[in-house]
Amino acid sequence: MKTPSAARATSRLLLTCALLGITYTATLAAQSNDAEINRKVEDLLRQMTVEEKVGQLSQLGGMPFIPDSIKIDERVRRGHAGSILWLSDPKAINRLQHIAVEQSRLHIPAIFGLDVIHGFKTIFPIPLAMAASWDPALVERSQTVAAREARASGIHWTFAPMVDIARDARWGRIIEGAGEDPYLGAAIARAQVRGFQGTDLGNPERVLACAKHFAGYGAAEGGRDYESVYISEDQMWNVYLPPFQAAAEAGAVTFMSAYMDLNNVPATANRFLLQDVLRTAWGFQGFVVSDANAVGDLVTHGFATDKQDAGFRALTAGVNMDMASHTYLDHIPALVAAGRIPMSLIDELVRPVLAAKFKLKLFEHPYVDESRTEAVFNAPEHRQAARVAAQRSAVLLRNESAALPLTKDASKSVAVIGPLGDSLNDMLGSWTTFGLQSDAVTILQGIKYKLGSASKVEFAPGVQIRKQFVSMFDTMLGPKPTPPWTEDQSAAEFAKAVELAKRSDVIVLALGQAATMSGELASQASLELPGRQQQLMEAIVALGKPVVLVLVTGRPVNITWAAAHVPAILEVWHAGTEAGNAIADLLFGDAVPGGKLPVTWPLSVGQEPLYYAHNLSHDPKNQDQRYWDEASKPLYPFGYGLSYTSFSFTNPRVSRKELKAGQSLEVSVDVENTGSRAGDEVAQLYIHQQTGSASRPVRELKGFERLTLAPHEKRTVRFQLGERELRYWNSAAKGWVVEPAKFDVWVGGSSDAPLHAGFTVTR
Ligand code: NOJ
Repeated sequence: MKTPSAARATSRLLLTCALLGITYTATLAAQSNDAEINRKVEDLLRQMTVEEKVGQLSQLGGMPFIPDSIKIDERVRRGHAGSILWLSDPKAINRLQHIAVEQSRLHIPAIFGLDVIHGFKTIFPIPLAMAASWDPALVERSQTVAAREARASGIHWTFAPMVDIARDARWGRIIEGAGEDPYLGAAIARAQVRGFQGTDLGNPERVLACAKHFAGYGAAEGGRDYESVYISEDQMWNVYLPPFQAAAEAGAVTFMSAYMDLNNVPATANRFLLQDVLRTAWGFQGFVVSDANAVGDLVTHGFATDKQDAGFRALTAGVNMDMASHTYLDHIPALVAAGRIPMSLIDELVRPVLAAKFKLKLFEHPYVDESRTEAVFNAPEHRQAARVAAQRSAVLLRNESAALPLTKDASKSVAVIGPLGDSLNDMLGSWTTFGLQSDAVTILQGIKYKLGSASKVEFAPGVQIRKQFVSMFDTMLGPKPTPPWTEDQSAAEFAKAVELAKRSDVIVLALGQAATMSGELASQASLELPGRQQQLMEAIVALGKPVVLVLVTGRPVNITWAAAHVPAILEVWHAGTEAGNAIADLLFGDAVPGGKLPVTWPLSVGQEPLYYAHNLSHDPKNQDQRYWDEASKPLYPFGYGLSYTSFSFTNPRVSRKELKAGQSLEVSVDVENTGSRAGDEVAQLYIHQQTGSASRPVRELKGFERLTLAPHEKRTVRFQLGERELRYWNSAAKGWVVEPAKFDVWVGGSSDAPLHAGFTVTR
């Protein structure tokens, strides 16, 4: 039941939406198609038993390690598997689909779902890196490739995009999202949904998208994965929900409910999220799947009394599909028989699942053409797209005296040193295995390809990096762990690396984290470089040779020493299949870095959670002295990143000095490439509402555009600020407000851009 205040908030919100002209009018053709699909859905529903309906609400694990008393084939035959997850082999998928279509009573095909997060066979940079490109069109193209490859393997549904805002680098899953900012996060979410789904789900190269983890998962206390989340209503609407809303508006057919408690109510049984926000406020018409086992785990949470209660609570809160816990299958038919759950509710929840199958045209084309799979996997344009994505997501953090780019001089020997220098798996990042062999290019290989056989390029790992605790994901999906080095071996490898550095002309230090060190169940209490990497770096820098630090990570790490002592630092993240080639392109100037940080980069772990859009406080002049033992400003601000050229921002102007709520204005600025080579800059617009009925953040991103400018080229960038950008959710008013106030505007190349303008919203 909706509370009166929630109902008031909802009607106000709907009114606001109507005023904003946000309507969901489909074209006439789409409407008639929808009507036809609805007719077919109703036709099927009339023929289905309650068990078959609940089967459509159940997703079963296709992998042998998931225990079940009944074999998966039999489950599928009985119509128990509306969807099947974690299969990636087209043969295995077709085999089960044949059973569903040919042997189940109503011949309903299954939807096959898998985590295709940043590529399937061709791996793209991790999502955090893709966000660092600040290039939604690139993100959309990359997910289009991922969808094509996944679909060629028989997968219809990806559990992506992950759109959780993350403001704490300790949280391992920061790697899977777009970082800390709701505006950037919303733009990247939209692009991913478009990339996966396209405009026509009947296109056999598209997959269903799934916006996850609804909602607030990124605020896990202490950055500890799965822990409780406490988020105020104001923060929920202003920070954590916008990327989800963007995904819903872009047409994401599915959402995934999160694991954790949100304000003490597990997200998987949370009516505020699943009803008031998702369906009532946003008009979502698709279906919600729980996270894996999350329905059954409502008991483990100390929330539901038993599995039956768990199924009841999740289903009545609005979770359509139970991922892997079998709770719906085992308990919902009895609840319907007992009259505790009306059949009308079951029908309501089954409808969008069946509709998705019709939209995907699975009834017409249930099987995947196994003869095409390899050709799609090996499409050269996919590799090329991955290379461009890796180039465009790198962030140049430091470049003293134009240390980069390096010259391609065959007479100079290059040493690649560090545990990430020749490590294939660590190029890829989390969510990339699922049985597919990767032919990723390592940093060493990329540099060798670039310089050719005439050049001397040698490698030494120097140190070994290992996780202290190995998670079940590492065992299931990660590479086989290498045995730990003995003390003698460690000393010898360290010395070998220093010796190699001594006899080389240029050193590329490849440091950072292993792929398994970020991701699910990979949170971290320290952000120090693991192992003896810091000592190795210091020993090598002490030699006084040209050194470039290539940082391979899924999150910010502590590089405060490096930022003062290593002349060039390039954050390349886990850059995917083409990592090595793209990194070599960047190091030797065949590509120019233009990415920007999607997260604030801390000085040390003690500053976390850290983000730019904090409130002003009563003491802004001492903002940098919030601690007595360390500065409180970050090492690098959100939005920061250098290029091999330089840019200037001039002449900021607003199209009007005053406007009323509901009106909009244009902010423009001139951006010039002031250097002598072409390069990219991301023009960013920030606003600050100076006063109001709530304190507002010091700055909030409200526009950005990535530009490529030739030497000395100058362009005017224009941003629109309308109701959507100027409003915020006010918890006292329980709704969106645009308040009369003075606003600051800043434009420039990062969140600390100095160029200022202003305007006033009047009554
Ligand atoms: C658990 C993860 O939290 C979620 O992101 C993922 O999609 C599911 N498992 C399925 O693999």
